[in-house]
Amino acid sequence: MNDNLHQLRCFGCGARIAGAEAQPDFRCAECGDLFEVEYPGWVQRRGPDRPNAGALKWLWRERRMSSEALDQSGVWRFRELLPILDSFGNAVSLREGNTPLYHLPRTAKALGIDQVFAKHQGMNPTSSFKDTGMTAAMSVARERRYEWVACASTGNTSAAMAASAARAGLRSLVLIPEGKIAWGKLSQAMDYGAVTCQLKTDFDGCLTVLTEIVRSNPIYLLNSVNPYRLEGQKTPAFEIAEAFDWNVPDHLIVPGGNLGNSSALGKVFREMHELGLIARLPRISVIQAEGANPLVRSFAANGATELQPVEAHTRATAIRIGNPASWRKAARAIQSTGGWCLDVSEAEIAIAKAELGAEGLGCEPASAVTLAGLKKLHAQGNVASGETVVLVLTGHTLKDADYTIDFHRGTLLNPEEAAGYEKQIAALRRDAIAVDATPAAVLAAMKGASK
Ligand code: F0G
Repeated sequence: MNDNLHQLRCFGCGARIAGAEAQPDFRCAECGDLFEVEYPGWVQRRGPDRPNAGALKWLWRERRMSSEALDQSGVWRFRELLPILDSFGNAVSLREGNTPLYHLPRTAKALGIDQVFAKHQGMNPTSSFKDTGMTAAMSVARERRYEWVACASTGNTSAAMAASAARAGLRSLVLIPEGKIAWGKLSQAMDYGAVTCQLKTDFDGCLTVLTEIVRSNPIYLLNSVNPYRLEGQKTPAFEIAEAFDWNVPDHLIVPGGNLGNSSALGKVFREMHELGLIARLPRISVIQAEGANPLVRSFAANGATELQPVEAHTRATAIRIGNPASWRKAARAIQSTGGWCLDVSEAEIAIAKAELGAEGLGCEPASAVTLAGLKKLHAQGNVASGETVVLVLTGHTLKDADYTIDFHRGTLLNPEEAAGYEKQIAALRRDAIAVDATPAAVLAAMKGASK
């Protein structure tokens, strides 16, 4: 059976090409913009390739009982809406997806918002949302018989790629900015056997070098400029919609780095709406760190018609990106859904992360921008109290344990960054206490601890 119903459409000039015709850097030969996967059969209302919304909802639910490997993947369970392979038998899966959607009652109460949830994509096999996109693009790499795959990364993409390549029996090359990624992530790339090169540049510099390499070597590029990555990253939206019985939440809040994830979510809700799976679109808001906020600046300067690249600085290293590739797609996701794009400070990120921790949901700093952003949006009057909001938590807390320990020890932020937030920070800090090895000393420590 041929499972392949897709073609690629340039986001800039609209040129259409077959999937296998894409250039190695996934840039349009006509205008240099990025491609999106499109499925021509979906638009013909009575055509044989247009999926039937009701039948799919039923089928996807049935598959939750299945013991087939493909059905147990939270990506390939939805494969009717991912017809990107000649054969689904070529899929490379680590049983990604199927991540939990947690209710956040304390956060909701503190903000006076009815329902706040966290979709925890850090609960994936390599502990970040990247696994969902990686299974899709790695499967294409295997089907097209590549021997080598590669990515530039702030850490999570490389972890996901290295693991998936190892499963597929492919070699993998990782380019990372030296000294600027969290150890947990670096250790994963090593563990899964990638060739890992630390370059004396930032993420954007790594991607530039890699782009040059893939243009003249048979290596498959697995950054999110690869449109198949974004197809896999659509699937958390199916899970969210399914969890709400196909009544979508009012608002989704995502972190913004290279802006692939927000682009994928914008695309999938539009497609679900067009196919009749959902009746309306949720707002999609993108939150960046203040020191890595090119999209926020672009909205302010020119309504996001032109990118304003920055030299990026933030301790949320996952989103330390100044020249994001998918900015146009992300801008469309925000504009077409009525969402917002804003930035949050280092102190706001650290506090939000500790607050999520106090709800029992660890995450990495880049994920915590979502809660920091929600607080800001609420304060600005852009989120009403009756709304249902979903924060997309992108990475697991153990990815960057140093950050968490520094926060609780009080060594993370400098005094200027913490200015005005001292009380909130003090209330959230839980440093380990050195006590004598006696029951009395331990009990005294318990009594002295703040609630
Ligand atoms: N959150 C985490 C934990 C990430 O690792 C990333 C991106 C983002 C958010 C931003 O997502 O790029 O789709 O806007 N990490 C990439 C990497 C760049 O190399 O792992 P985005």
